[in-house]
Amino acid sequence: MSKQMSHLDNIPSTPGKFKMDKSPYIHNRLRWHSSLAKLTFWSFMFLGLILIFFFRSPSSNPLPQDPSRRSLRTYNWGGPAWEKRVRSSARIRSRNGISVLVTGAAGFVGTHVSAALKRRGDGVLGLDNFNDYYDPTLKRARQALLERSGVFIVEGDINDSALLRKLFEVVAFTHVMHLAAQAGVRYAMENPGSYVHSNIAGFVNLLEVCKSANPQPAIVWASSSSVYGLNTKVPFSERDRTDQPASLYAATKKAGEEIAHTYNHIYGLSLTGLRFFTVYGPWGRPDMAYFFFTRDILKGKSISIFEAANHGTVARDFTYIDDIVKGCLAALDTAEKSTGSGGKKKGPAQLRVFNLGNTSPVPVSDLVSILERLLKVNAKRNIMKLPRNGDVQFTHANISLAQRELGYKPSTDLQTGLKKFVRWYLSYYSGGKKAAG
Ligand SMILES: NC(=O)c1ccc[n+]([C@@H]2O[C@H](COP(=O)([O-])OP(=O)(O)OC[C@H]3O[C@@H](n4cnc5c(N)ncnc54)[C@H](O)[C@@H]3O)[C@@H](O)[C@H]2O)c1
Ligand SMILES: *[C@@H]1O[C@H](CO)[C@@H](O)[C@H](O)[C@H]1NC(C)=O
Ligand SMILES: *[C@@H]1O[C@H](CO)[C@@H](O)[C@H](O)[C@H]1NC(C)=O
Repeated sequence: MSKQMSHLDNIPSTPGKFKMDKSPYIHNRLRWHSSLAKLTFWSFMFLGLILIFFFRSPSSNPLPQDPSRRSLRTYNWGGPAWEKRVRSSARIRSRNGISVLVTGAAGFVGTHVSAALKRRGDGVLGLDNFNDYYDPTLKRARQALLERSGVFIVEGDINDSALLRKLFEVVAFTHVMHLAAQAGVRYAMENPGSYVHSNIAGFVNLLEVCKSANPQPAIVWASSSSVYGLNTKVPFSERDRTDQPASLYAATKKAGEEIAHTYNHIYGLSLTGLRFFTVYGPWGRPDMAYFFFTRDILKGKSISIFEAANHGTVARDFTYIDDIVKGCLAALDTAEKSTGSGGKKKGPAQLRVFNLGNTSPVPVSDLVSILERLLKVNAKRNIMKLPRNGDVQFTHANISLAQRELGYKPSTDLQTGLKKFVRWYLSYYSGGKKAAG
């Protein structure tokens, strides 16, 4: 592909100037040659233009936006060189290391988890479809970062069963860290199909391939604090009700937890679901408030701060990325083996759900004040009613279960974590890169 692109680049962008070389006073033979050459030249130009259009069109037309079409997108995978990269990336380099397939590896959490696993000497293979829900250049930059530490990200979709089967054929993964998903709460009204595609169909496809793999891997996957939905009992504990989702996103995560139960029950897959609470930090997601507040404050644009009925405070249990990574690694390390083989259950297997939060909800207005201090710019605050389209008023995690079973102990407060985020943000977006979104 890159070779073809460079050929296309060789086509002159100003064909008009070629005309200047030809003289009208040459004799017939030459003129005949020249018109043949001209015909050939313009045929190639025409072909070239078609090729340019063909290769450019996926990024410039709305094709990848459409979720049903997106599933039809084909990716380049396979071949001996590709398999070699897959094997090398997944090779365990430490005693007692594990080999992990990380889905959503070019995502925010996936990048940090992949890098941490690689640092300890585990085998890591990434998988990501690089969709354009948010600026894909950020995903590419994270990919480049992982590439430098020896993590290869396969470009493909979790709903592609042939690709997943191939990956398990090439590598006997001991674990799957499943982070690929359609995230975001409000986007569901724009593109509900993408949630069904990635969070339901894609998850089922992944579990189907895992249950048939020999040996079956243990699976740790990202659920969400949003499953607590309209629950008003605080702090949120794992046994609280989760049957009142306030968004389609939350409903698909809740469905994922039920689907996990089924695959554990029928096939003996070891499954651990992690309910993340508003994760933030360097290389974060541009669709999240702390990120676009930073961008808009720096631009002098006003920011919308939501408040609930009767001036009720909207608060979030913000959790720093390094704490989440520790929780993910601890979940992988304490995961028991799946018990099935040949697609059949051989005995009961582990099924867990944990909250991973920070246990200290912070009002969103305080988040803005911290950002103002760090950026040394005053925000233009625009207080607005919390719309009823998916966001809940507050989140607050009870993490005593994760503390007990995973040794999880978050250690970064919002002030410290945002300082690290802002430092990253300023260096990333001043390094000649255009501002996000
Ligand atoms: N960041 C948070 O605050 C938060 C909170 C709760 C839950 N979660 C969950 O944690 C996980 C990671 O979140 P994140 O913040 O890193 O999000 P992210 O969007 O940055 O990462 C997800 C990655 O998955 C990829 N992806 C999406 N659909 C795919 C598909 N069908 N096939 C292959 N790749 C696909 C995307 O390209 C993206 O790179 C997600 O499951 C998310 O729902 C995140
Ligand atoms: C997922 O893949 C299956 C099998 O290839 C296909 O039938 C289905 O349409 C896909 N689902 C979505 C929502 O993309
Ligand atoms: C937190 O969760 C644990 C179970 O893990 C429970 O025993 C405890 O009562 C909960 N605490 C609160 C304050 O809800």
